[in-house]
Amino acid sequence: MIPLTLAQIAEITDGQLRGDPGAVVTGEVVIDSRRAGPGGLFAAVAGERADGHDFASSAVAAGAVAVLATRPVPVPSVLVTEVPAALAAMARFVIDALPAAAIAGITGSSGKTTTKDLAAQLVERLGPTIAPAGSFNNEFGHPLTVLRADAATRYLVLELSARGPGHIAYLCRVAPPRYGVVLNVGQAHAGEFGGLDQVARAKGELVEALPADGAAILNADDPRVLAMAARTAARVVTFGVDDQTAQIRAAGVWLDDLGRPSFTLLTPEGQARVTLRLHGAHTVPDAVAAAALARELGLGLADIADGLCTAVARSRWRMEVRRRTDGVTVINDAYNANPESVRAALDALRHLAQDGRGFAILGHMAELGEVSRASHEDIGELAARAELAGLIAVGEEAAPILAGARRVRSWTGEALAVPDGAAALDALANQLKPGDVVLVKASRAAHLEGVATILAGEEADR
Ligand SMILES: Nc1ncnc2c1ncn2[C@@H]1O[C@H](COP(=O)(O)OP(=O)(O)OP(=O)(O)O)[C@@H](O)[C@H]1O
Ligand SMILES: [Mg+2]
Repeated sequence: MIPLTLAQIAEITDGQLRGDPGAVVTGEVVIDSRRAGPGGLFAAVAGERADGHDFASSAVAAGAVAVLATRPVPVPSVLVTEVPAALAAMARFVIDALPAAAIAGITGSSGKTTTKDLAAQLVERLGPTIAPAGSFNNEFGHPLTVLRADAATRYLVLELSARGPGHIAYLCRVAPPRYGVVLNVGQAHAGEFGGLDQVARAKGELVEALPADGAAILNADDPRVLAMAARTAARVVTFGVDDQTAQIRAAGVWLDDLGRPSFTLLTPEGQARVTLRLHGAHTVPDAVAAAALARELGLGLADIADGLCTAVARSRWRMEVRRRTDGVTVINDAYNANPESVRAALDALRHLAQDGRGFAILGHMAELGEVSRASHEDIGELAARAELAGLIAVGEEAAPILAGARRVRSWTGEALAVPDGAAALDALANQLKPGDVVLVKASRAAHLEGVATILAGEEADR
């Protein structure tokens, strides 16, 4: 955070100052009052369950200099009409004050956080880097991340999400990127957009925002992403796994017994062997995208390869693989779910369960709109074709998964519908044997990560 006085904040946000104009904010800007700390600024937001304004006093008691609020609070504050707009204005002010910082944006339907975490661990080798924690990718998380930058910052690696047209363009105005990575166009939130072509229109807003001296880093394996080359003034750099014309490419992908990929990274500068600490073949395009971005920012091939080999999963519940001491393996991929990521997880499950039995505890995939039922049935069919020993659908909305599985007449596994995670655990209790692998996956709203944590057990050794 670059230090800002309350007077400056009021001016930047067009807000009304209620407090000492000379008081200086030096700490982090947060919207979670529990994270408010000395020198920081607490932005009060009215959420579904709680109203941040009720926590204004406790945030200041914890050390926050003031509160950004939309109605009067009994502590020093800047009153604004809308908090996201105020955060955006502050973030833009910070960006304008830091012309030496290179900004990269990453978007796509699946894999943004995975790619962002990998890219950040590469780019950090070049200099001080700001990247969001977890999925801070919307009108709150994005400016809050940008506000962490200061005079020492050289790189910002940002995650950009969209739930509708214009969202990414908006985030690009808050922090104009010079580098843009588009991973894929998939079904995530497709229901809200009205179809894949609309998703592609929205994701492409990132490359439309890039300047002529920037780089658009596009997935050559996804035709909708590759087509975005026509929508940018920036130089186009392609990455991929299957498309042999991709400039940055992974070849000879191979997975170890825990699904960790090894591959040869091919670049114009030469090639290098990479083994990831992440699980699942779907992480390979994410890694190659991260490599392509780091290369654009000036990182050499040896550092890129070494960085990918040592990079760890920084954000929880995405393909976390735990092998219990009794030989049962649990895959906690309960962070979210859409058809592409469930497909990727089932592929990984099938690979890990080559020598044992595979089980999947699947909750529903949210926000798919009119294709929701068919998508759930397709996932069930896929699970049955993967010859799982057991398929447990959690909650009523996930039931079509079982209908899809039953379409596969040759499948001999057990299909079970349960109301909640506890019942899923009961169903598996005393069933699991050494060598078995259990995947737990659902949309965020289903909160199945607890199920996976319990299943993985305290004695998890990996
Ligand atoms: N390239 C990919 N293709 C398909 N699935 C992927 C890919 N990369 C990651 N995933 C899977 O997608 C899920 C979400 O991963 P991640 O959190 O990285 O994505 P995200 O785009 O940041 O999601 P969100 O929109 O929730 O922020 C995980 O289950 C992960 O294993
Ligand atoms: Mg994310």
